[in-house]
Amino acid sequence: MAFPISFIPEQASSISVEVDRLLYFLLAVSVSLTLLIVAAITYFAIRYRRRSEREVPARIEARWPLQIAWSIIPLGITMVMFAWGARIFSEESRPPRDAIQIYVVAKQWMWKLQHVEGMREMNELHIPVGRPVKLTMTSEDVIHSFYVPAFRTKEDIVPGRYTTTWFTATKPGKYRLFCTEYCGTNHSGMNGWVYAMEPKDYELWMAGGPKGSLKEEGEKLFQDLACIKCHKEDGSGRCPSLKGLFGQTVLLTGGGTVDADEAYVRESILDPAAKVVDGYQPYMPVFKDRVTEEQVAALIEYVKSMVRKPAADPDSQKP
Ligand code: CUA
Repeated sequence: MAFPISFIPEQASSISVEVDRLLYFLLAVSVSLTLLIVAAITYFAIRYRRRSEREVPARIEARWPLQIAWSIIPLGITMVMFAWGARIFSEESRPPRDAIQIYVVAKQWMWKLQHVEGMREMNELHIPVGRPVKLTMTSEDVIHSFYVPAFRTKEDIVPGRYTTTWFTATKPGKYRLFCTEYCGTNHSGMNGWVYAMEPKDYELWMAGGPKGSLKEEGEKLFQDLACIKCHKEDGSGRCPSLKGLFGQTVLLTGGGTVDADEAYVRESILDPAAKVVDGYQPYMPVFKDRVTEEQVAALIEYVKSMVRKPAADPDSQKP
């Protein structure tokens, strides 16, 4: 459904049609209610205007059916708004499992984007149409916000943590990327472009990138930073083995558990003492000022790649 006047951006993602429908519904309700109220004010102002100094207005009794009706009907309408909005919100906050993973690091005043295949971009993001894309985002300084109007995608980027968002582009094209959280002097210049490409063009573009993947960069860092000395694969080191860790539930010292997701791995690198695995001591040094957010992303991809091999691996054969 395209609107005749172009006061809204192009619809270029799978969710944009649904978001716009909800917006039109909200607009329709607001406009109708406004007109209804203005009409009622006008009518009553004329109908019950003061006609003489001595006239005493008639007493008007409450009419229950009317009162109930004007309570129930708006309640119903607002519940529709709530349920509809909540459905879109929950869909937008749960990226599909097969989504392409891209890391976003925002800083004053630029966008740095990392593809797991190794491609890096600055203020530009290339994606294929028809495939869900998940962004894992963080900031190196202040709060920014990732906004692609054509995708109806808008998510805050907060220093010190990951936020995620996802979308599926439906139309090839070049779309505006804005920072939409005031982040200092050059906030208004913190823009970029998203290029949604046909899958085969995307493959071609990707093929022109660097040879090493993000995972390989992470693997190298894992050795350079000597992580490998303690995180031995067979678990004989001072720190837990990271093999097969990603996606698992981890038992922590002092009780409690945590899901080993991107946020947990990131926190464990930057501030290892925050959550210590049950049975281990907090030996690990703090890497907060030793690695950049981009390096953290590479390390996470490496940790993700350390899967437990089924059957062939003697470790997993243990009863
Ligand atoms: Cu970054 Cu505004």
